[in-house]
Amino acid sequence: MALAPGPRRARARVLDLPLSLLLCVFVATLPSLSSQASVLGERALTPLAPNSISQLTSTPDPVKNVDPANPSSHLSKILIPRPPDTENNTLVRNYIVSTLKGLKWDVEEDSFIDNTPYGAKNFTNVIATKDPTASRRVILAAHFDSKFFATYPQNQFVGATDSAAPCAMMLDLAEALDPLLDQRKERLEDGLEDDEDVADTTLQLVFFDGEEAFKEWTATDSIYGARHLAEKWATTYISPHSKRRMLRPSETQISAIEHLILLDLLGAPQPLIRSSFLDTAWLFDAMASAERRLFEVGAFVYGGDEGTSLTSFFYPRQDGDTNYGYVEDDHVPFMRKGVSVLHIIPRFFPSVWHKLSDDASALDVPTMRRWNLILRVFMSEYLGLQPETHSSRSEDASDQPVAHAELSLI
Ligand SMILES: *[C@@H]1O[C@H](CO)[C@@H](O)[C@H](O)[C@H]1NC(C)=O
Ligand SMILES: *[C@@H]1O[C@H](CO)[C@@H](O)[C@H](O)[C@H]1NC(C)=O
Ligand SMILES: [Zn+2]
Repeated sequence: MALAPGPRRARARVLDLPLSLLLCVFVATLPSLSSQASVLGERALTPLAPNSISQLTSTPDPVKNVDPANPSSHLSKILIPRPPDTENNTLVRNYIVSTLKGLKWDVEEDSFIDNTPYGAKNFTNVIATKDPTASRRVILAAHFDSKFFATYPQNQFVGATDSAAPCAMMLDLAEALDPLLDQRKERLEDGLEDDEDVADTTLQLVFFDGEEAFKEWTATDSIYGARHLAEKWATTYISPHSKRRMLRPSETQISAIEHLILLDLLGAPQPLIRSSFLDTAWLFDAMASAERRLFEVGAFVYGGDEGTSLTSFFYPRQDGDTNYGYVEDDHVPFMRKGVSVLHIIPRFFPSVWHKLSDDASALDVPTMRRWNLILRVFMSEYLGLQPETHSSRSEDASDQPVAHAELSLI
């Protein structure tokens, strides 16, 4: 069975284990890990009404943060060479930190030193949490470092899909959902939330440093930031909390993670994402469903594209699917500690992968726009957010113009 997106990649990053062995490992480890997990598992997400979907589609503008033509977009600020322990890496990190502090999120910089084939290097992960007092969190993550190349011109590599665009999408999501998360918190405090467990799950963004290998991808030359953070969280105990009734006293930061949703290699046209793990197949389906419903309200009409047919980003799942085996990436150290993972990475890597041409020209604005919309709807449904509050008010006011995005509903 081909586990790898491409033959070169197969050697570099895919676990070279037979699928049967992988399955044995999963079967052997999952039950004990899931009995430790204190998180909300598979559940039915409540689909947003079409007018709520349209509301999310229009505010904020889903292109501005990922526009490579705008030098002040989030994307453009990230799209520079930024290998670990360089001035440019610090510039990008500071940009991410200040953007999220600007939204008043709790931002932690997790700095450490590790050995690399080029000696000791400094790394810093960025962890931004909407509500650090929440009892559980769902993590959306990507790596913000770019791959190191020793010589010119390769050292001008900017990793547009790898993973500048996913980082810019995460900042877009934070901006889009921030007010809705505030409103949910008010509803929770006012006792207006039906499901207090969902409403007490916060959104956390993790920007990993040091995902890339400095030389060849090995267990010790890759995912520096993820390995460090998984280990740190596995040994950081959280204090008892009135809202943490589902948790035992000795729970760690790891056990309060509901899911880790990892984005990688996104932004090029026509990605094809496959469900990697059976335990998150339901989340994969929920994301594909968000895409379909966005299409149905006309949200993908953009530029010259009439949005008349949908070529999905998601490979349909079949009954009887098994765990496919996985591509090694930042999720692995978390998965090994029992965290449930949704890995959003194309089955076939962009053709520009690890080439100098993985720059702005590799990115497709309608594709990034669609990712932003999918993430907004999917995460809103996951977190029980209610974007319709605004739109129903504006619909009631008869002198208000109908928002452009809502025209498609009529
Ligand atoms: C840092 O980024 C700038 C673009 O802002 C780029 O011109 C420069 O080459 C980068 N420096 C290094 C050392 O890569
Ligand atoms: C890490 O950064 C500090 C300053 O922030 C510097 O003094 C130290 O030499 C760096 N360590 C390495 C291994 O580069
Ligand atoms: Zn890479």
